[in-house]
Amino acid sequence: MILYGGAVDGRQNWRTALATALGEANLAASVAMDPEAIPIDEVDYLLLDADGPTVSLAKATRLKAIFSLWAGVDWLVCRDDLPRNVPLVHMAEDGMTRGMCDYVAGHVMRYHLGLDDFLSGRPARDWDTTAPALSSQRTVGVMGLGVLGGAAARLLRDIGFQVSGWSRRRKDIPSITCFAGHEELATFLARSQILVVLLPLTGSTERIVDASLLKQLPEGACLINAARGGLIDDSDLIASLEEGTLKHATLDAFREEPLPRSHRFRSHPRITVTPHIASVTRPETAARAIVRQISRTEAGLPLEHVVDWSAGY
Ligand code: GLV
Repeated sequence: MILYGGAVDGRQNWRTALATALGEANLAASVAMDPEAIPIDEVDYLLLDADGPTVSLAKATRLKAIFSLWAGVDWLVCRDDLPRNVPLVHMAEDGMTRGMCDYVAGHVMRYHLGLDDFLSGRPARDWDTTAPALSSQRTVGVMGLGVLGGAAARLLRDIGFQVSGWSRRRKDIPSITCFAGHEELATFLARSQILVVLLPLTGSTERIVDASLLKQLPEGACLINAARGGLIDDSDLIASLEEGTLKHATLDAFREEPLPRSHRFRSHPRITVTPHIASVTRPETAARAIVRQISRTEAGLPLEHVVDWSAGY
């Protein structure tokens, strides 16, 4: 049995998406949508999201996998009732990846082309004909080269940017200069005129974007955080914008959401706030990804995108 334990208002869409995906995969399974109506010890596969009802797992004796409906699992790994012997799987699905690529490409392009300047109407007044830089002259750094960061980095590379990536463990991606570990962070930052943050939030990445990191970026760099608010030291970010080290920031996720009306980020002239929409799980494509993973388990194959508890993501 598959139990959807996500947000109540998502039940209808998920019911349809799971039925379609199971049909396409020719996989027979019963699907339950209400955790309160189902004994947890009958559930084989559990789907959870941060907005769903709390599902007690104490008696979940049959569980073969828990699927996070979110890509980031920081809200889940902090639960102390999660059975460590049951694989916990990140959401990795085409719709979310495509959405993140669109978001990152759009905001990088905005900075690269200086679109704010044109939208402000200044060129129409001044008629400055200085040609914009080419993408091949612009350095973009992507922090975090997982499913989303890796896809965004490859798209930026294909557009023509000089792309570097930074991750905990070294990755090897064609035509992307990959840096790893704290020893290589400074070199990576020094070549990131536009910095895209797509790291998981863990004990080691909390507030990683602080004053010391920001001052290692090239003068006038721009920042895009499409991951988690906890990665940023909010006061250091404001100070860096004020000092001019950082020219502009686009932030999609915050320590508190909705971002409080009085929060400085809301009114800062050099911060663009987007309301945690950089990318979201799309039931249609996500249900296919989950059903594909269930088929793998049932066929005795290993699950993909399983959380590494020791790394915290
Ligand atoms: C959204 O923030 C997600 O982690 O999927």
